[in-house]
Amino acid sequence: MLEGTEGEKAIDISRLRELTKYITLDPGFANTGSCLSSITFMDGEKGILRYRGIPVQELAEESSFVETAYLLINGKLPNSNELNRFRMLLNDHSLVHEDMRTFFQNFPRQSHPMGILSSMVTALRSFYPALEGLSETEETTITLTRLLSKVRTMAAMSYKMSRGHMVVYPRPDLSYCANFLNMMFDSPVKHYHIDDDLVQALNVFWILHADHEQNCSTAAVRLVGSARVNLYAAISAGIAALWGPLHGGANQKVIEMLEEIQANGGDSRPFIERAKDKKDPFRLMGFGHRVYKTYDPRAKIMKAMCDKVLDKLHTHDPLLDIAVQLEEVARKDQYIIDHNLYPNVDFYSGIVLRALGIPTNMFTVMFAIGRLPGWIAQWKEDASDPNWKLSRPRQIYTGPNLSHYVLIKERG
Ligand code: CMC
Repeated sequence: MLEGTEGEKAIDISRLRELTKYITLDPGFANTGSCLSSITFMDGEKGILRYRGIPVQELAEESSFVETAYLLINGKLPNSNELNRFRMLLNDHSLVHEDMRTFFQNFPRQSHPMGILSSMVTALRSFYPALEGLSETEETTITLTRLLSKVRTMAAMSYKMSRGHMVVYPRPDLSYCANFLNMMFDSPVKHYHIDDDLVQALNVFWILHADHEQNCSTAAVRLVGSARVNLYAAISAGIAALWGPLHGGANQKVIEMLEEIQANGGDSRPFIERAKDKKDPFRLMGFGHRVYKTYDPRAKIMKAMCDKVLDKLHTHDPLLDIAVQLEEVARKDQYIIDHNLYPNVDFYSGIVLRALGIPTNMFTVMFAIGRLPGWIAQWKEDASDPNWKLSRPRQIYTGPNLSHYVLIKERG
């Protein structure tokens, strides 16, 4: 028996097969702990989320995305020297090799930004191979800073190029989040005004996405990383997993669903009925979670953020009204109550992103940038685990018993 620091209990079955010849079957790994981890704690029944012990609410209030990234990756909050050095490194590595621009130009126009991002992150390894003469720790520090900084630059770059606009380079005088907004929206004919409240909203958005223990994409990063592949390739696998509509891709799907409700007159009820119909594959996007059986703490902060950002911009988003109405109606529905379905982080996040001017097809890229520190921290934890093991699940074979090859001319 094992017990975590927050009292969660587990049975260690690592020698089960060796001792009994039995294995376990756990589709979707809903009951399986794949590792010991000291990075993120979540309690799905109580709606708790903490990074390195610190509640996500406190980080969203007090911290910045860069500081939170440092916390996740290094296990403690930085002092001011450490934070300055980290910021400096992020600035030093923020440019992307000019030759990579030709890659962007050659993707078909309609390519989804997540597919492009996943390919580009793998490609980073070819442009930035392992450095000679560095210790493993130094090499990892440079690789992870490159990833954090360049992925953000590449995301803005791909947006500019998709619009046929000139690429805007990162500026050393701007913070990580301000730089991103500037690279996205500044133009030679219209300067982008950097608003501190919007920069703060982006900080909070990314802090809320920074880690979420062993979710699908993080499990992918760990699994791929367990083959001792380089960090770029492992992160690229995480990006591919995150693209899925049941995972990070849900933020794009939520807005598409709200737009569909709007186009159908604004009443969410028929959509809730569809979600309950077992013959209909439709699900309420942005609702439900494998671990949270109560309100996702991130969704609460995100909802408040919608109001704050829209107020600041003196604007109104009719999709927010539809989302609020959908939540109200859904939460009174017996099916939704019985199934413990609450809004998750993706339900309100798209409204914040729309207000910031981010196009819908880039929403999941925004999630990916936010999740980078978590993926990196989890990869690092795995890579430095003295009990590290190649991830290799087993299966229960249900196919044919021994049968023999039949020559094609003798087959019926
Ligand atoms: N709408 C309608 N029914 C749902 C929904 C939903 N959004 N989510 C779960 N259910 C039902 C499901 O039909 C099943 O019903 P029954 O037991 O009667 O057959 C039951 O709830 C359990 O569903 P499940 O798929 O086995 O549960 P899960 O724990 O694997 O689901 C989930 C987690 C996120 C895949 C699911 O809730 C879902 O598909 N949600 C919509 C997509 C979404 O918003 N994803 C973002 C997740 S949060 C961001 C992130 O971390 O990626």
